[in-house]
This record gives sequence, structure tokens and C-alpha cells, in this order.
Amino acid sequence: MTDKNSLTGRTVIITGAARGLGAEAARLAVARGADVVITDVLDEEGEATAAGLGPKARFLHHDVTSQEDWQRVAAFALAESGRIDGLVNNAGVSTGQPLETETVEHFRKVIDINLTAVFIGMKTVIPVMKENGGGSIVNISSAAGLMGLALTSSYGASKWGVRGLTKVGAVELGTAGIRVNSVHPGMVYTPMTASVGIQQGEGNYPNTPMGRVGEAGEIGEAIVFLLSDAASYVTGAELAVDGGWTTGPTVKYVMGQ
Ligand SMILES: NC(=O)c1ccc[n+]([C@@H]2O[C@H](COP(=O)([O-])OP(=O)(O)OC[C@H]3O[C@@H](n4cnc5c(N)ncnc54)[C@H](O)[C@@H]3O)[C@@H](O)[C@H]2O)c1
Repeated sequence: MTDKNSLTGRTVIITGAARGLGAEAARLAVARGADVVITDVLDEEGEATAAGLGPKARFLHHDVTSQEDWQRVAAFALAESGRIDGLVNNAGVSTGQPLETETVEHFRKVIDINLTAVFIGMKTVIPVMKENGGGSIVNISSAAGLMGLALTSSYGASKWGVRGLTKVGAVELGTAGIRVNSVHPGMVYTPMTASVGIQQGEGNYPNTPMGRVGEAGEIGEAIVFLLSDAASYVTGAELAVDGGWTTGPTVKYVMGQ
């Protein structure tokens, strides 16, 4: 019986994978047999992450806002294996200003990294995937792309945009065998969230029904599922991996009294 979770023989590009969620997704993809191209602007961390995963992982410097860089990354993957089966658009930056103090320059910058780059990445791999007869694109949005979260004007707008772009991709590319889905992590412990004081472990995030922050591997599992044939009929989905955060408030009202 074939293992539908296997990624053996697949080549997957994961952006922003020097650390955090992307690095964990890369680890899980390699564990399932994929050849992974890890990309990031953090060269030292990216090289170290790839080295730690062995010969099936390679690192490339890649600024996701640069179309030339995308061409170089795709050419590298094609030269190495002749195919691109998966793309995980994971690179991103977070922000935390109120609408009133967010600047136009900063808003544009965040949209460029978190949204326009996802569009460029999709555009780059679609022709290659079509040639292969299919593929899987996993766009990392956020819980902030499913609800209005205070202090996330640029970030929230970018992540809602990623969710919308994913739907368009799914509709346009379904018959080409290219599945496009978005993953919406809740509060997960990574260098990004550690930098704003999020702590690991039980009891550290009472906002979520599950009462804790997530671990990078819990997002990674969703990503490798969507990359694999186990998700062969899943496209256009928005998979919240958030401990129930976007399901509803944790305050318990007594109804009907
Ligand atoms: N950690 C969370 O709680 C959480 C929640 C929701 C969504 N996310 C999303 O998950 C993704 C990964 O986040 P993370 O928590 O691992 O953060 P992280 O900061 O640890 O990792 C993000 C990576 O993206 C890279 N990056 C930033 N700008 C780039 C650019 N222009 N080109 C290439 N790489 C670039 C960074 O160098 C970094 O390595 C992001 O898109 C983030 O918005 C994270």
C-alpha cells in the first residue's frame, strides 16, 4: 500500500525557513522524504538549518520581494531535481501598531513581504507545476487573516490578502492539478512571537480554548499534510491551527436565564 503522507521524490521550496515555523516544516518534509529548498534572508541561520537536516535540504539566499531572486530559486530547484512539487509561502514579518500610528511606508513594506511576495511565488511556480502535471501550494496566513485583531492593520490586511489569493489560486488551478490552501496559525512559540514576550508551555495563552500557545511542529504537521497526497481532494481550504482561538471567545456566558 502506498503511504499517502510520503513526500518521497517531491521537491519542495519553503520560504523564510531559516528558523521558526518554516524550519520546522522543512524538518518534517525531509522526514517524509522530500528534497527541500530552504530560503531566507538570514544566511547564517539558513545554512545552519539546512546543514542540520542533511543532504536532502539545501539553503538559498532569497528575498521574497525580489522577482529575480524567485527566478534564481526556481532555476536552482529545477537544475537539482527537474521539478517543483510544493511551495510553502511562509516568509513573513509581524507588526503591532494601532491604525492611527501605522505609517504608509511601513504598511506598504509589510504588504510587499507578506502578500505581494506570495503572489510572485505563486506566479513563479505555476508554469513549472503545470508542466509536472500538478503540485501543492501552501500559503501561511494567520489567525489574523480570519478575524479582526487589534494592532495588526498592515499584518492583518496582508494575511486576509493571502487568504483571498489562495482562494483565487484554488479556483484557477484546480483542473491543472495544483492545489492551493492556506494555513492559519494561532499564537505559536517562535523567534517572531518570543520577541514580543510570548512564552512556551501550558497556561501561557488563555485567549485560546486550549489555553496554551502552539508549537512550531503542530503547524508543520498541517503543512506537510497539505503538501502530501493525503490531502489530494483539499484545495481552497483555510486550515486554522490555532487551539480554537478563532472559533470563539473563551469567556463562558450562561444562555437562557
Ligand atoms: N508564530 C506565530 O504565532 C504565527 C502566527 C500566525 C502566523 N504566523 C506566520 O508564520 C510565518 C512564519 O512565522 P514565524 O513565527 O516562524 O516567524 P519567524 O520570524 O521566526 O520566521 C519568519 C522568517 O521569515 C524570514 N523573512 C522575513 N522577511 C523576509 C524576506 N523579505 N525574504 C525572505 N525571508 C524573509 C525571516 O528572516 C524569518 O526567518 C509568517 O508568515 C508569520 O506571519 C506566525
